[in-house]
Amino acid sequence: MKDETLIIEARELTKVFRDFWGRAKVRAVNGINLEVRRGEIFGLLGPNGSGKSTTLKMLLGLLYPTSGQLTVLGLSPRDVAVKSRMGFMPEESYLYKYLTADEILNFYANLLGLSGQAKKERVETLIQQVGLTGARNRPVGEFSKGMARRVGLAQALLNDPDLILLDEPTSGLDPIACREVKDLLIELARKGKTILICSHHLADMQDICTRVAILLNGEVCASGTVTELLASPDTIKLTLQSPSREGLASILEYVEKETGTRPQVDHTGRTLESVFIETVSRRRNAP
Ligand SMILES: Nc1ncnc2c1ncn2[C@@H]1O[C@H](COP(=O)(O)OP(=O)(O)O)[C@@H](O)[C@H]1O
Ligand SMILES: [Mg+2]
Repeated sequence: MKDETLIIEARELTKVFRDFWGRAKVRAVNGINLEVRRGEIFGLLGPNGSGKSTTLKMLLGLLYPTSGQLTVLGLSPRDVAVKSRMGFMPEESYLYKYLTADEILNFYANLLGLSGQAKKERVETLIQQVGLTGARNRPVGEFSKGMARRVGLAQALLNDPDLILLDEPTSGLDPIACREVKDLLIELARKGKTILICSHHLADMQDICTRVAILLNGEVCASGTVTELLASPDTIKLTLQSPSREGLASILEYVEKETGTRPQVDHTGRTLESVFIETVSRRRNAP
């Protein structure tokens, strides 16, 4: 029976680029195996030239694998039925700068064959979802990079896709816009969308990905859930919610007696991102 939750499956997927004379030049993707399931936010990480974009292009059906198998939503990525269930946001969206966000989304909605009330509702929902309500009638040429990214994201979501492919969705965004984009992606995954992200921004990936694969020279050199990858086999972390000074002292004493070493104490739970967002919004909301 077909496994409906398996959204992307790559088996020994390989792409060799050939030169003008047909001689093998670069093994851009070299026998990778990937499985991405419904509702996951999967991160494809790796340095420049590691094969991320080539993998993405094969997933989009733009490049044909040299060998191996690739199925997306149970079909070949070149199948038109797959394309209609896929959304893609490239790293740079080329938006016609004299059009407003509203006009751009309506234009692409027309191309998708949406019309009337359905189109109106779809554009309305997306404008709200990506937080462009206040700016919808301004030409996108005036937009910041973060706002333009939101138009790109709304555009990728127009066909209400089941699978969303994103190339560097958070690059160039200020911390607040970045947090908003990440929260939106988490929300989409919670609603059952599957998301695959190629990125260099490791902190953002650690923050939102359920699983990641690290590519190097076209090969997967590590993969797993973020927790698995970060786990160190002989160190554990214990988090205590506001312990009393005496309580903490006796816990430390006990642990030291049990293990022979004094545990390290630090104040976790906060990230620079959360401190930044709190500080800025407190200032902005101040009378
Ligand atoms: N069309 C192409 N023809 C020849 N080589 C290519 C082509 N596209 C990518 N490559 C090579 O394949 C390797 C992987 O590239 P790419 O998938 O773009 O990596 P990444 O997106 O991780 O930076 C690189 O060595 C790159 O130079
Ligand atoms: Mg690339």
